Amino acid sequence: MIIRETIEPGAPFRPNRDAWWRQAAVYQVYPRSFADSNGDGIGDLAGVTERVPYLKALGIDAVWLSPFYPSALIDGGYDVDDHRAVDANLGTLSDFDDMVAALRSSGIRIIIDIVPNHTSNRHKWFREALDSPPGSLARERYLFRDGLGEHGRLPPADWTSIFGGSAWTAAGDGQWYLHYFAAEQPDLNWKNREVRDDFLRTLRFWADRGVNGFRIDVAHGLAKELPLELPSQAELDVMPRDGTHPLWDRDEVHDIYAEWRTVFNTYDPPRTAVAEAWVDPSRRVRYARAEGLGQAFNFDLLEADFEAESFRRIVTFNLDLAAQSGSSTTWVLSNHDVVRHATRYGLPPLAGRPDKQGREWLLSGGEVPILDSELGLRRALAATLFELALPGSSYLFQGEELGLHEVASLPPASRQDPVFYRNPGVDIGRDGCRIPMPWTRSGPSFGFSSQAAHLPQPASFGRLSVEVQGSDAGSTLSLYRSALALRQRLQCDESLEWLQTSADAVLMFRRQNGWTSVTNFGSSPVVLPVGEVLISSAPLEHGFLPGSTTAWLITSL
Ligand code: GLC
Ligand code: CA
Repeated sequence: MIIRETIEPGAPFRPNRDAWWRQAAVYQVYPRSFADSNGDGIGDLAGVTERVPYLKALGIDAVWLSPFYPSALIDGGYDVDDHRAVDANLGTLSDFDDMVAALRSSGIRIIIDIVPNHTSNRHKWFREALDSPPGSLARERYLFRDGLGEHGRLPPADWTSIFGGSAWTAAGDGQWYLHYFAAEQPDLNWKNREVRDDFLRTLRFWADRGVNGFRIDVAHGLAKELPLELPSQAELDVMPRDGTHPLWDRDEVHDIYAEWRTVFNTYDPPRTAVAEAWVDPSRRVRYARAEGLGQAFNFDLLEADFEAESFRRIVTFNLDLAAQSGSSTTWVLSNHDVVRHATRYGLPPLAGRPDKQGREWLLSGGEVPILDSELGLRRALAATLFELALPGSSYLFQGEELGLHEVASLPPASRQDPVFYRNPGVDIGRDGCRIPMPWTRSGPSFGFSSQAAHLPQPASFGRLSVEVQGSDAGSTLSLYRSALALRQRLQCDESLEWLQTSADAVLMFRRQNGWTSVTNFGSSPVVLPVGEVLISSAPLEHGFLPGSTTAWLITSL
């Protein structure tokens, strides 16, 4: 890695205070796996507070905190018992306030996860619904339907849950409730005014506590229109792009977000939100509009192979979409739901089948196909530098700054993801990217806790720990720190210009101030463009950019 900090690109970019999120580097903390402050093996809020100096040194602008609410942890906390409280295992509301204050005094903002599509089955509303008769107001907050056949013994339709198995579970009295995820996550009825008002209250509750924004879980799923005669799963599998699917991406979902926007805009600065909406890219604009949530995740890079033409197409397309919505675009390479990008890029190409992401490899316990972990990491770092130089926000996932790989070989008994249990032999689930962070070289859980971690870490994590990498100028962690620091200094207006390159496998773009990023997606070295090199994801070879490498330069305009 080469870092030269001599270049002064002019005054640092200062986005307008209300628009801090437009080009933020946002770091996702999965709290149960980040840092454990009290030695019970589970990461907690005080653990995040203790690590604020680490986050500051990393150079991020904001933290996205995954759910920390009371939960039976059937789905890693996305099964929420109470949206306005902190899980006792993770701390208290006052720990939450301390964490927000510590982040704020280090100049780091916080966005939190809001899970509005469903509650947990332990939520007081759902318990009340089960205790109440069919047709009652309590059942109206969810999606109950009469079963088919004698005494309603059969589910109302053949729908399958995203996690596998039926999407309907019997209430025991002839009715069934819909859960598009686990049975412990009953779907809410967003036509119900009480449901809507309660979430407005939740948003205000956290905004009043100083939260800067929200990441909206399954944002495309809230509005549902279940006809009397339910369609079959085969019919549901057809996804029209006009907002008329009974379950997903219905146009009315934006009425909900328009109400939320009114709440966000009562704050100064206005609260922000980013939609997790797995929709056709052309429909993303609706979620990202200023009258709606304001920003939406773009998972296109995450679903692509490490390949120049796809990356270029995706960038151009998404900058155009962002311009249409008036929002900035977002970039994501890893999160808590997918195989880490260092691993993905070391496996055979997905060939346009993102659903295949590491699936076979995970099922074989990491044996087949053979993972080229070195190449995977090398490409991952090249992709990360490419991403960080793009206009828009970059969402990073904890542990990627250490170059962590997906962990494939977990004992079945320690698996937690409902996907593993609901879809045996077909899906292994997402535990492998949620393994607790290694902070120190040794110790029972490499500094994560004073005892063993809730998910076992592989022995290799010691070498990858913050302690080891923090003092090594050539480490992945040092690369992330330098790149994020440079990014803060070089950030400028949201546009780029593609530059001509000598080979199809090489992409080069320049921002207005001369900040230039060049990536060699191929394997043979290419001549570096003329300019002052600031940083590179792998060592450069005498004026050449080797394969699977990105360099940042200042080039003359
Ligand atoms: C989102 C979350 C995922 C969760 C699901 C159900 O996709 O990112 O982790 O399992 O929603 O809440
Ligand atoms: Ca703990």
